[in-house]
Amino acid sequence: MDRDEALALVKKYSTKEITYRHLISVEGVMRVLARHFGEDESRWGLAGLFHDLDYDVTEAEDDLGRHGYLTVEWLREEGFEDEQVLNAILGHRFEEHQTDLMSKAIVHADAVAGLLVASALVRPEKADGMKVSSVKKKLKEKSFAPGVEREHIRNVQEGIGLELDEFLAISITGVQEVAPEIGLA
Ligand SMILES: [Fe+2]
Repeated sequence: MDRDEALALVKKYSTKEITYRHLISVEGVMRVLARHFGEDESRWGLAGLFHDLDYDVTEAEDDLGRHGYLTVEWLREEGFEDEQVLNAILGHRFEEHQTDLMSKAIVHADAVAGLLVASALVRPEKADGMKVSSVKKKLKEKSFAPGVEREHIRNVQEGIGLELDEFLAISITGVQEVAPEIGLA
């Protein structure tokens, strides 16, 4: 599936601007992580782009038990059959689906993208020139973006074998690459 088709699905199923920004930012991080690991950038990107596709629906219906599963159902109906990507989508929520590098990486990408977008939003230059050191300060500041699951950033070495600083540097690049699409450039 090419990116235009994927973006059309994002627009079809997710309704909120904030969700769109989150999906694109996780996509950006996943793409650069894939590049780092010598994996398939566009498929890792799709996992990031789709991982919360059903969130606006499952959240509005107070049905978060179906979150992830509904996305997989929709994507299959749309004819999307990349099992590794579908597994990674489930992996962002369920440990039993964290079975390979892609499905493990998405957990960390999800969390770090949240922190980076929140950090960019409070900077006049937005994502431009964002530094690892300042992001680490935001990581320590618990009252800043409290919804971010910080443990999934801190445990990145355990999860996918990257040092925290390197992971943050990669992730910053990821968000910067998509920044013009989400008002962060
Ligand atoms: Fe997410």
